[in-house]
Amino acid sequence: MSEPTQTTQASKPERKKIILSGIQPTGVFTLGNYLGAIRNWAAMQEDYNCAYCIANLHAITVRQDAAKLRQQTIACYALILACGIDPKKSLTFIQSHVPTHAELSWVLSCYTQFGELSRMTQFKDKSLKHPENVNVGLFTYPDLMAADILLYQADLVPVGADQKQHLEITRDIAVRFNNLYGNVFTLPEPYIPKVGARIMSLAEPTKKMSKSDENQNAFISILDAPEVIVKKFKRAVTDSQAEVAYREGKDGINNLMTIYSSVTGDSFETIERDFAGKGYGDFKQAVGEAVAEHLRPVRENFDRLMKDKAYLEECYTEGAKKALAISARTLDKVYHKVGFVKPIR
Ligand code: TRP
Repeated sequence: MSEPTQTTQASKPERKKIILSGIQPTGVFTLGNYLGAIRNWAAMQEDYNCAYCIANLHAITVRQDAAKLRQQTIACYALILACGIDPKKSLTFIQSHVPTHAELSWVLSCYTQFGELSRMTQFKDKSLKHPENVNVGLFTYPDLMAADILLYQADLVPVGADQKQHLEITRDIAVRFNNLYGNVFTLPEPYIPKVGARIMSLAEPTKKMSKSDENQNAFISILDAPEVIVKKFKRAVTDSQAEVAYREGKDGINNLMTIYSSVTGDSFETIERDFAGKGYGDFKQAVGEAVAEHLRPVRENFDRLMKDKAYLEECYTEGAKKALAISARTLDKVYHKVGFVKPIR
């Protein structure tokens, strides 16, 4: 028998990168969120260590109805499971269940300058939108988000354009802390998914599809009933031409083709060929039906999960326990660095 060869560095399985994302439990995802991001999460679970946090602490920076927030938090948790997140593979928890988030957030706020938080565009926008409630939590929101990310030593954070600045400030705070105390935090990078379509409003196709749109016909919620989905697509705004073809400037039809292609896997050429000689009416009907069918399993999973609150509770309790154990390692290190007496756990 030959001597066993030494395991080389290269043959060692590489540590899976850590991805962390947070979702505010303030409404059902849109088709845009789903096709642009959430649909990929299930696939990502194989290649990364994923963590998903239902950010209910962030949600109260805007006034919420308590009963509704509680209900929506559970629904949001059920929804991410319905979209294919497996709580056995991914760390899936409710932020308020894990006290380390609020604790680290306080420490980080002492390493964040008033001036830099004042420059956050989301703070400025939200202050204008809710001038009657410009609370301090809204101001220090980025510190809480930084805590979410840094506690888990996340390598990657999937972010949309609206959260990019918050990820940048997270990095700034982490660098500042590391410069003072050594390598405490991993520096997170933005994660841009390989696949992910940008879905526009059905009413104003130059605007991104948004769940906060006042016009209900402008967006598809992933829990909309099939007939509602079909109806919304029939009303989708398109131009006055009638040819199903992807062309510069025809934002309405381009958006519908993007959606159809995302749910069927058909290329634009195939779609153009299949719908040659047919009008927008036929195409809108086809897109509506394809989307309704595509979302069927999500809707069914969601309904099933919402009937089994005991199972959901079991999952988020387990998630919170694991999240606490992982995040406490980082928090204890931070507490030691800043000079706190050894915590009693
Ligand atoms: N602030 C994010 C949003 O409103 C949600 C969020 C909270 C988040 N914590 C996070 C996103 C950590 C990424 C990482 O969309």
